[in-house]
Amino acid sequence: MNILRRGSKTRLLVVLSDLHCGHRLGLLAPDTELLEIDPEGDSDVWVPSLGPTQEYLWELYQEHIGSIIGRCQDVTLIVNGDLTHGVKYRDALFTESIHDQCVVAERCLTPWLDAGVKQLRIVRGTGSHTLEGSTEGMIARLLAKSYPKADIGIVGHGLFDVNGTTFDIAHHGPSKGIREWTSGNQARYYLRSLMLAEIGRDRRPPDWVVRSHFHSYMPPERVNAAGRTSEIVLTPSYCGMNGHGRQITRSQHVQTHGLIVFEIGAERCRFEKMIKSLDLRSSESL
Ligand SMILES: [Fe+2]
Ligand SMILES: [Fe+2]
Repeated sequence: MNILRRGSKTRLLVVLSDLHCGHRLGLLAPDTELLEIDPEGDSDVWVPSLGPTQEYLWELYQEHIGSIIGRCQDVTLIVNGDLTHGVKYRDALFTESIHDQCVVAERCLTPWLDAGVKQLRIVRGTGSHTLEGSTEGMIARLLAKSYPKADIGIVGHGLFDVNGTTFDIAHHGPSKGIREWTSGNQARYYLRSLMLAEIGRDRRPPDWVVRSHFHSYMPPERVNAAGRTSEIVLTPSYCGMNGHGRQITRSQHVQTHGLIVFEIGAERCRFEKMIKSLDLRSSESL
């Protein structure tokens, strides 16, 4: 697996997801300018201020971008869904304007394009957060206007070949599991099934499968099936945990944020994670 064509240059494939722009716990750049329209129709510029979680996330995000840019001339960025939070769940939105949420997301992606990233793929996320796919289209259009030379596209489910290594990337998939000792089981079943389906169609299974949506990092799990080897990994998010998140995770006390990187060199594909864990509990002596 992961044997590359000789002479191919090193490339980086960066995958991140779940920015949930527009939510008070979603990613927000400090200098994002939004327009406020008053009842008379006059507009004014306002800059939303960052909450403590957003300050933490923005600093971490900048750190991650900084450690990737400059390492390689050839970086492809994949945003694997949920760039915006949408308006279905309105609690703790700082803007209910879909346009504003798209502007916030656009501003979050510009540091990559400003730094020379020329290829971006936005993978469609959860419909309730993206107006069934409309926000991805709006963000791509906004970015294409500012960066006309960049190769920007939207996919529902990507199958990408990078110098001979293949990546199957989609937003929805298995979770890592709810118990520490069963972590990865569901993902391995999922991957084995995907691999066998491909082998049954006389197709080579992808080398890597990347999924997101659960806002929870899962390190790579490897599966061997019918002489083939593939790996699956789940990306974390760049957004905090709200009350709904606490409810559905049954008060998970640690959240991980960050991104994953594949360095696809002349001989092999090297996986790297850039993550940081945050303890969500309020600790005090009483
Ligand atoms: Fe999400
Ligand atoms: Fe999602």
